[in-house]
Amino acid sequence: MRILSPSMVFRSPSLAPFRSAVNTRRERSVHPPLPSPHRSAKREPFARLFIQSLWPNTTAPIVGGRKTMAGGFSVPDGGKEYPGKMTLFVFLACLVASSGGLIFGYDIGISGGVTSMDPFLLKFFPDVYHEEKLQKSTSQYCKFNSQLLTTFTSSLYLAALVASFFASTVTRLLGRKPSMFCGGLVFLAGSVINGAAKDVAMLIIGRIFLGIGIGFASQSVPLYLSEMAPARLRGMLNIGFQQMITVGILIANIINYGTAKIEGGWGWRVSLGLGAVPAIIMTAGSLLLPDTPNSLIERGHTDEAKSMLCRIRGTEDVQAEFVDLVAASEASKAVKHPWSTLRQRSYRPQLVMSLLIPAFQQLTGINVINFYAPVLFKTIGFGSEASLMSAVIIGFFKVASCLISIFVVDKLGRRPLLIEGGLQMIFFQVVVGILIGIKFGSDGVGTISKPYAIGVVSCICFFVSAFDWSWGPLGWLVPSEIYPLEVRSAGQSITVSVNMLFTFIVAQTFLPMLCHFKFGLFFFFAACETIMTVYVTLFLPETKNIPIEEMDRIWKKHWYWSRFVTDVPGGDHEMTKPKSSV
Ligand code: BGC
Repeated sequence: MRILSPSMVFRSPSLAPFRSAVNTRRERSVHPPLPSPHRSAKREPFARLFIQSLWPNTTAPIVGGRKTMAGGFSVPDGGKEYPGKMTLFVFLACLVASSGGLIFGYDIGISGGVTSMDPFLLKFFPDVYHEEKLQKSTSQYCKFNSQLLTTFTSSLYLAALVASFFASTVTRLLGRKPSMFCGGLVFLAGSVINGAAKDVAMLIIGRIFLGIGIGFASQSVPLYLSEMAPARLRGMLNIGFQQMITVGILIANIINYGTAKIEGGWGWRVSLGLGAVPAIIMTAGSLLLPDTPNSLIERGHTDEAKSMLCRIRGTEDVQAEFVDLVAASEASKAVKHPWSTLRQRSYRPQLVMSLLIPAFQQLTGINVINFYAPVLFKTIGFGSEASLMSAVIIGFFKVASCLISIFVVDKLGRRPLLIEGGLQMIFFQVVVGILIGIKFGSDGVGTISKPYAIGVVSCICFFVSAFDWSWGPLGWLVPSEIYPLEVRSAGQSITVSVNMLFTFIVAQTFLPMLCHFKFGLFFFFAACETIMTVYVTLFLPETKNIPIEEMDRIWKKHWYWSRFVTDVPGGDHEMTKPKSSV
């Protein structure tokens, strides 16, 4: 088995012009400058970081930063900062690209709302409707328990799971933009089919289209955002995807609230059909978007890539970053089999994280609230309008909480947010379980007073807030920043597919589980949250401020993961001739 480290890739004659600068970069990685924590704190006061995050156009290099030989600035944590700023061009590009999150969120909010609308239930799921209306005396917990209804919601996530693998090929061979374009177009078709649906089959076919669109969007948009963003704002811009998901959910909840009032019972068609709007924004937007320099280099357009880099960084001084991008791209191409490489022992920490973090993210039970909040509220006795209004209130909490995360994630760090969010979710999940248990017991019969209902909705708001400033955004951010480049894209596909798989499982099993576990279901999710909070405390090293290319340091220093990580970059990986692996 041939052993080759990524830097050996640079023996290729075509890379001669870059070689000396790249060597400088590699040497610095082996002996990174590590100033004392004291000096770091002095150089990088919190106030300054805060100001930079509020006004990202602050272009001055970090105080005390040392100019590196390749032209970047070394920063206190041992990495480096490239010259440049967040230009309006990048901001607008990222805003347009984030509309991929909008279609994702819009669908989550819409499907939750329409499944609580009587005309929709009557047309497609008459059994559920009659169960709800005619048999008031039966257990509240079971009245929405229909396999067909859950299939309507969850079919989308199976489609997204499969599509994310195809999307990975389109993204690699043709670039990020075509992937977003395909995603937008297929989502558009799905919205039209759903808005015009005549029977359940049409409804589910429409959802499969929507799922394919979402699969393409969640593969390409986070990648696009990360590649366009200046390194020091990567966390912030990456969370833009989650922010747009929450905005999409809120808009959908508001639309459902309005369309439910439409006389004639066809409001649900407007809700489903309006998915075409974010889809058109994404499809048209993707045509206007610039290609990322990384993708251009990957496809052999190096000159174009360099001009694009100058344009998006707002400076001509991009040589250091350009050299590193070429290096990273070549190292990435040199891994022939990213999927089998990923199974090597030295990638075990990252692999375990990208299997567990998205699975845990879904086992918080967040999508129970996202998909079924209105149904859940009707279950505990709210009227139709009150259920939809409660979903709107929750939507506001989600948007505000994600915004908080954007501003604190690079200062407080990932671990504190995940641990605090986990504890807060456990507490409010348990309280909701107790409140529902007291009122409905295990036979599921009872009524709820207004103040009591307000108490339940408030607890749910605190629960979703905790999710949307912790496990929501970080469930995407952390897995995307821990992989070395040569397997990063394969890792991202695993994250997306595990996320979609668990979303599917939770969506598919929630209503039957509510029927069988009753209020105990909330304790089940609280138990999962306890396990994941303990897991993060023990096993997740802090990734804040660690440059991606130097992320292997965190595993080497970790009490448990250090046993898996060797000192040889690339370890026992088989590498052969360059071949694209994104
Ligand atoms: C999760 C989704 C969830 C959304 C909104 C995302 O991070 O992956 O499953 O629906 O947040 O809460």
